[in-house]
Amino acid sequence: MEQKATESKPVIVSGIQPSGQLALGNYVGAMKNWVKLQADYFGIYIVVDLHAITVRQNPAELRQRALSFAAQYIAAGIDPEKNIIFMQSHVPQHSELAWILNCNTYMGELNRMTQFKDKSTKHEDNINSGLYTYPSLMAADILLYQADLVPVGHDQKQHLELTRTLAQRFNHYYSPTFKVPEPYIAASGARIMSLQDPTKKMSKSDDNPNNYIALLDEPSVILKKIKRAVTDSGTSVTYDAKNRPGLANLLTIYSVLGEMAIDDVITQYDGKGFGVLKEDLGNLIVNYLTPFQRKYKELMSEKNYLESILKESAAKAQHIAQRTLSKVHRKVGFVQFK
Ligand code: TRP
Repeated sequence: MEQKATESKPVIVSGIQPSGQLALGNYVGAMKNWVKLQADYFGIYIVVDLHAITVRQNPAELRQRALSFAAQYIAAGIDPEKNIIFMQSHVPQHSELAWILNCNTYMGELNRMTQFKDKSTKHEDNINSGLYTYPSLMAADILLYQADLVPVGHDQKQHLELTRTLAQRFNHYYSPTFKVPEPYIAASGARIMSLQDPTKKMSKSDDNPNNYIALLDEPSVILKKIKRAVTDSGTSVTYDAKNRPGLANLLTIYSVLGEMAIDDVITQYDGKGFGVLKEDLGNLIVNYLTPFQRKYKELMSEKNYLESILKESAAKAQHIAQRTLSKVHRKVGFVQFK
């Protein structure tokens, strides 16, 4: 019954790779929004472990990180009753649909994917066919759930575009089967930048941990990272993303977490020097993350509870996914028994 109610809402599908560490940028740019949107949207949040193994992973670390990411989503306030949060590998329909989509994806299309080119250069010793066909698996993640919207950062636009092409191609060649998803652009899209190189986005997979605040960083580490964040010389506090990107980034973080207009933050700190601003901002982040970290620790210490959520969510996901997959099998011409 409840399923019906949630499914009448527009569906958002988002996948997150269990690599690196979830960072403040993920929180502000995405997770915080999902919490706000859960009244009006049905969110499908997939920890994409199948995607993760397109590059070499340490198995024990992968397992731990995948669970940790799911727990962090829940700790952030994403309600597993209103949304579904699950492991991609727990829903075999993803791999199955990916195969069928692969048979409808041209090599020329995959050759053009910039992420494949980037990752092939980065992992020269392991250019595997999973890395190559990664975009059709991502398309399966999205199309199985008849997603209305997919939030995409700049780096994933090309993959979403291909997803739309594949949906349209299939719909056209067979008959209407998939909803063609639209990109979701967040209304309040604050972009959090790297602390050491504020012209780059804050990335959870950055090699240098000083570039990001991990959501699970200890308070002392958070304070230290903010203290070390680059600003420019001078003491006047102004917002100038182009010429003073480091300072602008700190003001943005302050404004988002403190729920204050940037102008008010400026008024409060002008003339006080960056030291005071940084100290207060560090404390603001620590206070902001404290309840999150507490909830996370609770979840990770109650593994049975976390496991039961993931099992139930996977079952719900399988149910929805199978509806689409059965339809696809029928259209493609596979024998089906009643
Ligand atoms: N490729 C995405 C990334 O690297 C992750 C992803 C996998 C995804 N499946 C998805 C994102 C489905 C949105 C929808 O960030």
